[in-house]
Amino acid sequence: MSDALKLGFGPLKAPAKGVLIVFCDDALKFGPATRKAIAPAADFVSRAAKTERFTGKSGSALELILPEGLKVARLVVIGTGKIAELKPKDILKLGGVAMGRLPASANDGTIFAEFVDVALGAEQAADLAQGVRLRAYAFDRYKTKKKDDEQRKGAVSMTLAVGDVAAVRQAYAARAAVGDGVLLARDLVNEPANVLYPEEFARRAQALRKVGVAVEVLELKALKKLGMNALVGVGLGSWRESRVVVMRWNGGKKGEAPVAFIGKGVCFDTGGISIKPAASMEDMKGDMAGAACVTGLMQALAARKARVNAVGVIGLVENMPDGNAQRPGDIVKSMSGQTIEIINTDAEGRLVLADVIWYCAQRFKPKFMIDLATLTGAIIVALGQEYAGLFANDDKLAERLSKAGEATGELVWRMPLAKEYDKMIDSKFADMKNTGGSRYGSAITAAQFIKRFVDDKTPWAHLDIAGTGFDSRQTDVNKSWASGWGVRLLDRLVKDYYER
Ligand code: BES
Ligand code: MN
Ligand code: ZN
Repeated sequence: MSDALKLGFGPLKAPAKGVLIVFCDDALKFGPATRKAIAPAADFVSRAAKTERFTGKSGSALELILPEGLKVARLVVIGTGKIAELKPKDILKLGGVAMGRLPASANDGTIFAEFVDVALGAEQAADLAQGVRLRAYAFDRYKTKKKDDEQRKGAVSMTLAVGDVAAVRQAYAARAAVGDGVLLARDLVNEPANVLYPEEFARRAQALRKVGVAVEVLELKALKKLGMNALVGVGLGSWRESRVVVMRWNGGKKGEAPVAFIGKGVCFDTGGISIKPAASMEDMKGDMAGAACVTGLMQALAARKARVNAVGVIGLVENMPDGNAQRPGDIVKSMSGQTIEIINTDAEGRLVLADVIWYCAQRFKPKFMIDLATLTGAIIVALGQEYAGLFANDDKLAERLSKAGEATGELVWRMPLAKEYDKMIDSKFADMKNTGGSRYGSAITAAQFIKRFVDDKTPWAHLDIAGTGFDSRQTDVNKSWASGWGVRLLDRLVKDYYER
């Protein structure tokens, strides 16, 4: 994992070097330990705040170099706004803001985890630490020349000064597991497709064995034998063989039905014979963000020993144009027995999901299925990059996902499914076609297509993450191209509703 941060915890004592980062509210008030630590520079701080018109608004910052009376090289004061309004996701964000204020020239920082009038509990301090870590992530393994102003040299150590060090360390352990999952997902999405092709993705998934995940890799021969012709068809134009990876974590009651997560893992999507235009095609190395999220989630659940039975199934392919590639007009028979007419080879994600979802349901009889896919450009047109599209055949599952989204800040917005849309994918020659035939509602027709591979008795949700999985707007807890979106959302869903 690209994680050059050394995160530690210590007592609320003023450090003798590095950068000291503290919080104040919108009345420029400090907590008691903070006030004591910066007392020698109190006057300097208040004059600087006036000069800068710094008012402690949430997320704003005042930076002081060589603060008189203090031993540190720099003091940063970050505003929290009104304290009573802080939710966990706001605290996470403040951790990100704090980390972001460590200048590239510094390798050593201390954050005073103290807010005015509210003692930060261990859970909240751990949220703050999580924000620090997510923000510190950078994917720079292919940069051989590091410019001074662009990248930090060497590792960064950041210490969170907290009230009860032991309690915070304990609360942070579960956050660290989830953070590992998020960073793993980001790494997978950021990797270029010449490095991360199906087999290599499968190899990286196998590394989850060390946290206790049972990992099975189905090779091409097995996929053919299972009749996964829809998935296999997508990979025909690629030199890289397709793979399906099954990951299982059994932390729940023995024999209890698992919760299931399914990911689209198109390691590169050229569009195939229906080739995409050149502009931004490089982004299609991220067309496996759904599979990356599922892998990161399984890592997180296992590493924090979640008391749940969970299965993750990912379909890994590369969609290339070639003499062997599948053509528009081809008809394939999916594992479910339903036939599909390929209208556009660029609508490949649904073909992969069709077989993987069917396989997952048959084999595991899960409690619910949630699939994640960078499925359509249309969902970006509809929702932008703030919300992922949520389609579901079950109101309870949809409701729970929405709540987990609100809690984590990884937001989902429910979109409709209806038989009127379903008609749009009927085919002249086969049971269905792989596009709706027009651009209208094409995120919905894509979801309708997937729905045909889900039996109505299994609660199912489909998350179209084309707008949130990568190229995501930069946030306070992510400055990387890949977001790792969904790991925190689904971990939270499991934690709040499905652990025994
Ligand atoms: N992977 C793309 C969707 C995508 C586009 C994700 C942009 C992220 C950013 C998907 O395979 C695709 O090509 N979808 C087509 C479907 C169409 C051919 C029906 C699309 O959305 O245009
Ligand atoms: Mn495509
Ligand atoms: Zn795609």
